[in-house]
Amino acid sequence: MATKGEFSVGRVAARCGVRVSTLHFYERKGLIRSTRNNGNQRRYRADVIRRVAVIKAAQRVGVSLESIRAAFATLPDQRTPTQRDWQRLSRRWHGELSERITQLERLRDSLTGCIGCGCLSMDNCPIYNPDDRLAEEGPGPVILDRASKPEAD
Ligand code: FES
Repeated sequence: MATKGEFSVGRVAARCGVRVSTLHFYERKGLIRSTRNNGNQRRYRADVIRRVAVIKAAQRVGVSLESIRAAFATLPDQRTPTQRDWQRLSRRWHGELSERITQLERLRDSLTGCIGCGCLSMDNCPIYNPDDRLAEEGPGPVILDRASKPEAD
């Protein structure tokens, strides 16, 4: 039986919409922590539910587990993070997430025209990639890759 403020692995998994094995994986990666009760069962603090929610949201937009782990390392381990703790994490992550948003916007905005992939199937391919000249720059969608590269300062 979980004591007040503690959650079993099954309850956290159910509330977060993940498998128990996923929580074990996050623990192995150092993203979340559990304690053990007298029966040697995992018990989680409530803030683990928020951490798992943030992990899932970040992964959905392509943020790496390593980046998530580094950001979470700014959160206190031995107590429930406060709003101020999360604000500090947010400031730290702001730059990377903003860059990712920019990349996603560029991707969204580049899909209506030629992406320089070599297919020559779009109306404006002859303008942007005549005779697939961009292949000389390397494999893949050259225009799309250019668009998703972070702008040089
Ligand atoms: S979209 Fe493929 S070459 Fe233009």
